[in-house]
Amino acid sequence: MIKRHLITTALPYANGPIHIGHLAGVYIPADIYCRYLRAKGEEVLFIGGSDEHGVPITITARKENTTPQAIVDRYHEMIQKSFEQLGIIFDIYSRTTKPVHHETASEIFTNLYKTGKLIEKTSEQYFDEVASEFLADRYITGTCPHCENNSAYGDQCEACGSSLNATDLINPKSVLSGNVPIMKETKHWYLPLEQYEDWLKKWILEGHKEDWKTNVYGQCKSWIEQGLHPRAVTRDLSWGVKVPLADAEGKVLYVWFDAPIGYISATKEWCEQNGQNYERWWKDEETRLLHFIGKDNIVFHCIIFPVMLKAEGSYILPENVPANEFLNLENNKISTSRNWAVWLHEYLEEFKDKQDVLRYTLTTIAPETKDSDFTWADFQAKNNNELLAIFGNFVNRTVVLIHKYYEGVIPEIGEFTDEEKELIAKIAGFPSVIGTSVEKYRFREALAEFMNLARLGNKYLTDTEPWKVVKTDPKRVKTILHLSIQICANLSVLGEPFLPFTSAKLRKILNIDILYWSDSGRVDLLKAGHKINAPEYLFEKIENAVIEAQVRKLVK
Ligand code: MF3
Ligand code: ZN
Repeated sequence: MIKRHLITTALPYANGPIHIGHLAGVYIPADIYCRYLRAKGEEVLFIGGSDEHGVPITITARKENTTPQAIVDRYHEMIQKSFEQLGIIFDIYSRTTKPVHHETASEIFTNLYKTGKLIEKTSEQYFDEVASEFLADRYITGTCPHCENNSAYGDQCEACGSSLNATDLINPKSVLSGNVPIMKETKHWYLPLEQYEDWLKKWILEGHKEDWKTNVYGQCKSWIEQGLHPRAVTRDLSWGVKVPLADAEGKVLYVWFDAPIGYISATKEWCEQNGQNYERWWKDEETRLLHFIGKDNIVFHCIIFPVMLKAEGSYILPENVPANEFLNLENNKISTSRNWAVWLHEYLEEFKDKQDVLRYTLTTIAPETKDSDFTWADFQAKNNNELLAIFGNFVNRTVVLIHKYYEGVIPEIGEFTDEEKELIAKIAGFPSVIGTSVEKYRFREALAEFMNLARLGNKYLTDTEPWKVVKTDPKRVKTILHLSIQICANLSVLGEPFLPFTSAKLRKILNIDILYWSDSGRVDLLKAGHKINAPEYLFEKIENAVIEAQVRKLVK
């Protein structure tokens, strides 16, 4: 049964630029996955967008003496542009400040409210008397009761990773005024997660033991087994989706309530532009919903959002949530505030036309099962010793020789040797080997297999030495280069999900259109007599000085 695939990526906060950690963990794997499915001819909808609510955005606005809207406008545009330049091609890159999103989030909240799925509760919460505001989440800091870090937030301690309630903090202080807050009564709406415990056990712990990644399954298991509690889905704030009830002045939906609904709103927006009904994507069991996220988002995508959808009752649930761990940079945690990061927009400026080098490096070190580390030395080595020395070198040698001996026209094949017959059999196996790894979300493995094909081609040329044989047996050389150029064509198809820019360049050299995955594995992709274009380098050497400058920039 062929299904349609609805692929979402965590909506980044429009509160700062994208760095390599986001890319390696979420956006590059999701893009590879979508490109692969499209190459297989499958129906895919790839959703992205900006998460534009939440307290950190209002704090940034306050610091810069501007409005939250100005902050999200700035970063939304910047993030959208840099994704596009890296070849992360969403069908739609929306934003949660759009009217369609406010309507959709309100509607889902209202449905839950009207059908009695929410609990209304009055409690005492921290209030800043000077600023005359309740202090939600990051508006309050204090000492973490678990690790004594004294700049923990009202919702989380970043030092030890614990999730907190504001009232857990020791010596709480208002971020707005620095004052000690008082307690004041306020009414909020809660999602009673504990009522869904049995269902979650069945759905995740029994139903997805085999197919969800162990890091994802493990986190869900520990959350569920620790016992679930009602979770507030509203806040006393002015920035966000207004709570659509009469007695809710000054209250908005909690950002983690509205943001995942952004996937639905973005789908609606795309459907409106493309003459479709969004229910086909969200309310039909023939859709496979997948969420690509980082590990800090697991609980929201595996427990809270599914409970919201289940409670509402008319939506499908994710089939899988292939979350990754974290990427470090030169052996240290990536940190936005300490500027310990490689920012995508800066990379794109400084490494023009080297998008695939970053895509390649980040895929080879993707934190699929545990945290991993990016170093500039490794980036250089992967470019010089792998992309350039193996893939680039093989393609270049083949194309140059075909021009040199046959004026760019692919020669006829003669008899294959036994070694060549073996090689052809091996080539036939690559599409399914690479595809199977991609389907299991093992992108590192898939890319390593792809490089093995390039390696095989490179070795074939080195072993057969056509540049020597040409003097004694020119007919043999025709076969060798015919077969070599078929390997190049296969590399252009199989490499497209990982290295789309290089693949496009290679297709241009080979003078062919984009091919389907199912075309690959064969050695008759190009016919004898087909004329190829002039050679062009796929990769260029990255010198030490370039790398040293990047390392210096980091420690500055
Ligand atoms: N903005 C969140 C983050 O960067 C992710 C939101 S994902 C969504 O951690 F589901 F809410 F959209
Ligand atoms: Zn802590």
